[in-house]
Amino acid sequence: MVQQEHKIRLAILGATGNVGRKFLEILEQRNFPISSLKLLASEKSVGKMVQFQGKEYKVELATKNSFKDVDIVLASAGASVSKELAPHAVKAGAVIIDNSSAFRMEQNVPLVVAGVNDHVLKKHKGIIANPNCTTAQLVVPLKALHKLAGLKRVIVSTYQSVSGAGKSAMDELTEQSKNHLSENNYSFKAINRKFAFNVIPHIDTFLEDGYTKEEAKVINESRKILELPDLSITCTAVRVPVYIGHSESVNVELNHPATKEQILKAFKGFPDLEVFDEPSESKYPMAIDIAGTDPVYIGRIREDKSNPNTFNMWIVADNLRIGAALNAVRIAEELLKQNLLKISVV
Ligand SMILES: NC(=O)c1ccc[n+]([C@@H]2O[C@H](COP(=O)([O-])OP(=O)(O)OC[C@H]3O[C@@H](n4cnc5c(N)ncnc54)[C@H](OP(=O)(O)O)[C@@H]3O)[C@@H](O)[C@H]2O)c1
Repeated sequence: MVQQEHKIRLAILGATGNVGRKFLEILEQRNFPISSLKLLASEKSVGKMVQFQGKEYKVELATKNSFKDVDIVLASAGASVSKELAPHAVKAGAVIIDNSSAFRMEQNVPLVVAGVNDHVLKKHKGIIANPNCTTAQLVVPLKALHKLAGLKRVIVSTYQSVSGAGKSAMDELTEQSKNHLSENNYSFKAINRKFAFNVIPHIDTFLEDGYTKEEAKVINESRKILELPDLSITCTAVRVPVYIGHSESVNVELNHPATKEQILKAFKGFPDLEVFDEPSESKYPMAIDIAGTDPVYIGRIREDKSNPNTFNMWIVADNLRIGAALNAVRIAEELLKQNLLKISVV
């Protein structure tokens, strides 16, 4: 956490959403040094009162003029809003840490997971991108494995919670579940499928090659963050009826031989990773247990006997924290630590 000498004039774009509300919770928990706070959202939320550190703040409409006297913008209002407003934030002198997919793959925009590739922050030109939540938790153990023995090939299958699709999707899972159990008919809103009591191999839209955009994000963003543009990596992304916490079954082939003991040592020595792997006691990470916590949990680590130098593992994290809000706040802390911000000293 940062020291308190500098206080930041902060704006949250998308303050009323799933990620926006997590920003507030995490800023408060980490005692992030704030001198002023603007909460921005759509017309729908204008005038809503939100509590932060014992004070009431009124939600304002986000416009291109919202960023005067702001040092940092934490943005989570979707890609089209970010595309429209980020240039105005930068022009007004703010640094924007964006959770949407709008700028992630742009060459001059650092795509950062705190603790994995903070060194690229110094290249920022006002916009810093946060990866997709699925990618954020994946690259933490992948980075540890790459440092240990080099990554040759990665196969990822995801089990993603509905909170990844926003607050409305969580509300809809509740409604669908109630209706399903009482055998009422109901319609689908947040996505065009029933996700209560279902498993759906379809997140975001389909691309021409048969992958979904979500799968393409995991592939492309992992390569960018790990600075391995030619990494062999593939993904199948699946929505499951879980409120919070994404799980991933990951098969990793290494360039060089490594023992399970060496892998455990590498994971245990890597920041933000928590090994939870006691098969004899039926202990492994589960979304329902880890929601609301910060680490990336890893369990079911075992050799893949079908291929040399290959291991299977199960990776679970809170998608709203490490996958979004916590990562963005940690990036903001890192900007302060590395003095990469024009900040107002109050
Ligand atoms: N959920 C995750 O796990 C996760 C992880 C990483 C990244 N992200 C990304 O973060 C973004 C938000 O996700 P979320 O889950 O928080 O969604 P959400 O719960 O649907 O919240 C969306 C937020 O954006 C605001 N908004 C919508 N249209 C706006 C507009 N025209 N102008 C200003 N504000 C507007 C909404 O305000 P109103 O309440 O006024 O409509 C709300 O505050 C998305 O880009 C998502 O891909 C999400």
